[in-house]
Amino acid sequence: MPCLLYFRRVKNLLLPIDYLVYQLKAKGPQGIHSPFVFELYNKVIAGSAMYYEFIPIEHLRERLLHTKETIEVTDFGAGGKSTGITQTRKVKHIARKSAIPAKEGRLLFRLVNFMQPRNIIEMGTSLGISTLYQYKACPDAKLITMEGSRGTSTFAGINFKILQADTIRRVVGDFAETLPEVIKNLSFVDYVFFDGNHRKEATIEYFHQFLPFASENAVFVFDDIRWSQGMKEAWEEIIKEPKATVTVDLFSIGLVFLNRAQKKQDFVLRYYTPFS
Ligand SMILES: C[S@@+](CC[C@H](N)C(=O)[O-])C[C@H]1O[C@@H](n2cnc3c(N)ncnc32)[C@H](O)[C@@H]1O
Repeated sequence: MPCLLYFRRVKNLLLPIDYLVYQLKAKGPQGIHSPFVFELYNKVIAGSAMYYEFIPIEHLRERLLHTKETIEVTDFGAGGKSTGITQTRKVKHIARKSAIPAKEGRLLFRLVNFMQPRNIIEMGTSLGISTLYQYKACPDAKLITMEGSRGTSTFAGINFKILQADTIRRVVGDFAETLPEVIKNLSFVDYVFFDGNHRKEATIEYFHQFLPFASENAVFVFDDIRWSQGMKEAWEEIIKEPKATVTVDLFSIGLVFLNRAQKKQDFVLRYYTPFS
């Protein structure tokens, strides 16, 4: 899916203006003085290495984009009118609207490969495309992916089997109910991908729920940080947190590193182009 589609599915009418501001602020490698962020930029953000693991995931996406299959989906959308209602939906529409674009999937893969987390928590499984990018980068990590809609999660489980990713653990239910239980069973978290319930209060709340369990080198990844005014505000608030030592704004995605050895710095780095 071209990233240009991102501009059509967001709720933020000021997105083109935000994009211009981002382009003016975003730095390339010359402007980075932190050795950690410089390495992150070269290996992860600007990295262009292609891995064999990408091929079956993109084949799966192609199949999902063209299948006639339907599934029962319970809407957990960001507080809209249909929230809580279960409807039959075409898989191809979900694949087109909700799955992470390939460019960002590859970014997640490179990030996980670089960080080598011991555990990965994903909030928002959908059909499992982002889950698979993260899993394939570090198959030995314990990966838990959370989804409210049972039909969607079951379908993702089939995709995981097809791509030999059977060790992924799926947790089904509203985050409000499942997250406390997931966190209670972990003594630490190394990596969290926030990609469900894009509401300001919920996003900040989930961040604070994970924060006390963040390990020395933890990274939290937020998708769609400019999806709506609320998500923009959530990101602004998250980066103010003193424990968020290094933050990186990549326009569509925000990275928060909780590395206690780093001094607090907030970066806006060149990554996003709607035409890639
Ligand atoms: C954008 S999609 C995830 C896309 C997926 N990460 C990918 O890139 O392939 C967000 C998912 O989060 C789920 N979701 C949203 N709010 C939720 C909530 N409060 N509890 C549980 N699941 C929720 C939705 O059902 C949806 O499937």
